[in-house]
Amino acid sequence: MTHPPYEPTLDCARRLDEADPLRALRERFALPRGGNAEPLVYLCGHSLGLMPLAARGLVMEELDDWARLAVLGHEHAHRPWIPYHENLREGLASLAGARPAEVVAMSSLTVNLHLLLAAFYRPSGARRRILIEAGAFSSDRHAVASQIAWRGLDPREALVELSPAAGTDTIPEETIEAYLEEHGAEVALVLWPGVQYRTGQAFDLGRIASAAHRAGCVAGFDLAHAIGNLPLALHDIDADFAVWCSYKYLNGGPGAIGGCFVHERHDRPRLAGWWGHEPATRFRMGPEFRPAPGAAGWQISNPPILAAAPLIASLALFGQAGMARLRRKSVALTGFLEYLLDRLAPEVQLITPRAADSRGCQLSIRITGPQGRGQTVFDALTAQGIIGDWRDPDTIRLAPVPSYNSFADVFRGAEALAQAVRRLP
Ligand SMILES: Cc1ncc(COP(=O)(O)O)c(C=O)c1O
Repeated sequence: MTHPPYEPTLDCARRLDEADPLRALRERFALPRGGNAEPLVYLCGHSLGLMPLAARGLVMEELDDWARLAVLGHEHAHRPWIPYHENLREGLASLAGARPAEVVAMSSLTVNLHLLLAAFYRPSGARRRILIEAGAFSSDRHAVASQIAWRGLDPREALVELSPAAGTDTIPEETIEAYLEEHGAEVALVLWPGVQYRTGQAFDLGRIASAAHRAGCVAGFDLAHAIGNLPLALHDIDADFAVWCSYKYLNGGPGAIGGCFVHERHDRPRLAGWWGHEPATRFRMGPEFRPAPGAAGWQISNPPILAAAPLIASLALFGQAGMARLRRKSVALTGFLEYLLDRLAPEVQLITPRAADSRGCQLSIRITGPQGRGQTVFDALTAQGIIGDWRDPDTIRLAPVPSYNSFADVFRGAEALAQAVRRLP
């Protein structure tokens, strides 16, 4: 977007909203309200997305079918429960840039990560390492370190964490490529985020997958902060596997069913459960495990219907809006926020990369100066009804989400931040 060449005002933000072809989408979400019943300025979709209004009806339908049909609902519910995950397949495949058979909604993020690491992390000989980013989300690090230890190896040797260069926050793809060129023969698997949760940096996953494959390594991705945020092309970039949660940009609700992608070229030994058995013979309950084709064959348990129903509502909205249009608006919204935050330099410092290709919705900032100022500013924002979040030691994360945030939201958020910064001693 081109920045307005004048002092930005709430009116100018409203004019941007009037010109927004997706403005009506906001009405399809429940907007949280503060104590005064005024809508909050919700800039926290990177943590928990808002509820699509249609989610309530879909959950109620399942409760009603449970009440009405009990066990018969497995086959006779409006949306029968046995093949329930199929309701999510096309929408997820479209967002993941995958063939429908390559994705499945199942379980939750860290569990899915464990299941896929169990199958894809095959240390042998000198090739034992897993490469991740320094400062990875704690659960990912725990999963990876425990997978290494589970195989009798030492995470202090086999877990490699790539850091940003001194004095910087982000990791250029060149750093990953250079590491793999030099040490790739010792790396079994690269696990990389689509968007880094703290910095908001988005990565060129195609480059990372190619670099991993050139070095003979498996390329797996954690898309918790990427799916529904950025266009993805997992099939075409030849990713081996990916996992995600559905409660952030996918607006699936707290604890919503997670998801995974397994490239169609992979059919390998896995940890199995009955729901991954091919459906035609699953209920014969035989001793042999015969996997369903594709990612569906990686399921373990029957799906949590009540934690999956809201995602149907959300994926329908993604389908109507289209990821290309959402992304166009997202680049403009986040660019508008960046423009307003830059007016608060040097107190407010941007951590997230400035190039639109290297970020999604989220901007991460730090407040410069003595320790404690960041937390003070964050608390002031919250008190003003601006909902972002704080990540230790010094980061405020704000994410305008194109489905339900407006330019006016961004303006109000930045204004509250400006006031909080002005009030600092
Ligand atoms: C990057 C990342 N990994 C892992 C998790 C943990 O997810 P879950 O509790 O669904 O396993 C999160 C949750 O926010 C996350 O952002």
